[in-house]
Amino acid sequence: MKLAMLCGGHSSERPISFKSARSIVEALGKGFPLLLIDSGRSEVFTDFEAQMQKEPLPPSPSLVKGLLSHLENNGIEKVCIMLHGGEGEDGHIQALLDLCRLPYTGSGMGASFLGMDKGLSKMVMKYYQVPTPPWTILTKSKPLPSSPPLPLPLIVKPVHEGSTVGLTKTETGEQWEKALHEAFKADDSILIEQFIPGRELTLTVDETGAWPPVEIRPKKGLYDYESKYSKGMSQYICPAEIAPPLLDRMNRDALLLYEKMGLKGVVRFDIRLDDEKYFFLEVNTLPGMTSLSLVPMSFKAGGLSYRDLIERIFHG
Ligand SMILES: Nc1ncnc2c1ncn2[C@@H]1O[C@H](COP(=O)(O)OP(=O)(O)OP(=O)(O)O)[C@@H](O)[C@H]1O
Ligand SMILES: [Mg+2]
Repeated sequence: MKLAMLCGGHSSERPISFKSARSIVEALGKGFPLLLIDSGRSEVFTDFEAQMQKEPLPPSPSLVKGLLSHLENNGIEKVCIMLHGGEGEDGHIQALLDLCRLPYTGSGMGASFLGMDKGLSKMVMKYYQVPTPPWTILTKSKPLPSSPPLPLPLIVKPVHEGSTVGLTKTETGEQWEKALHEAFKADDSILIEQFIPGRELTLTVDETGAWPPVEIRPKKGLYDYESKYSKGMSQYICPAEIAPPLLDRMNRDALLLYEKMGLKGVVRFDIRLDDEKYFFLEVNTLPGMTSLSLVPMSFKAGGLSYRDLIERIFHG
């Protein structure tokens, strides 16, 4: 089967996408036939170093046409989507491939869209009684409350962004307006969510079930962009120490959401744990896949190598 991998893209997570893709290519070895396409430029490439230096091109019909031509001219039969954030994770690329009847890895258009929208995801959680922090949504075009609509402290974050872009913890009334401003810079809809103190967990799920959870201990405050991508800024514990009855309930809820949201392939739920109470924050439908990322860590603790994980991604 002729395979292509889409990476790069237009989102702010373009560099991370290249890192995920490069780790996969290195693990597969040079001989593995895989066409690499940077969907942000509609370019076929082989040199990651050089490609990562390039800026994405402005989206246009000819850019989309270019991408489809590469798939068609190379007789591609299946696409591995290794894009993070933006159009690669929110269902747009998935829809394009659906229209071409080209199979691809991971969640379909609808589940990707649902996963990218933190507000809709939380509605599904609430409907199925999966614990999620109390929240409200504010829209840029409507009059905004001059004081916080939920008790402090709060988290203010864009509905559709990732990588903690535009996210602020608000502890005092004075910080409220600045937090709104920051979140609205990234999105027209923002989520105001109760801050959950305690531990930070992430749970990997795929068709076969839930994998050992990872506990993340950021050196400072939130698990933000810096804590995530700078070496030594966070400590990771896998499997996280969680009492079995609590872990069973958490796993059951994660599997329920996986099913009800129509998710496919390998996904990761971000969770807060306040003593004995857990709260689901969001799902990542295209989580990072560098050899140092959280999903490979979880698979390793479950007895599967990085190479095994990649094979699962390609077959999924
Ligand atoms: N309600 C909350 N209570 C406590 N901490 C929170 C809350 N919401 C977000 N955070 C912190 O901010 C981080 C990022 O939040 P979240 O996962 O919701 O958004 P994101 O920007 O999509 O994240 P990612 O970095 O995973 O793409 C969380 O991992 C957590 O550390
Ligand atoms: Mg997250």
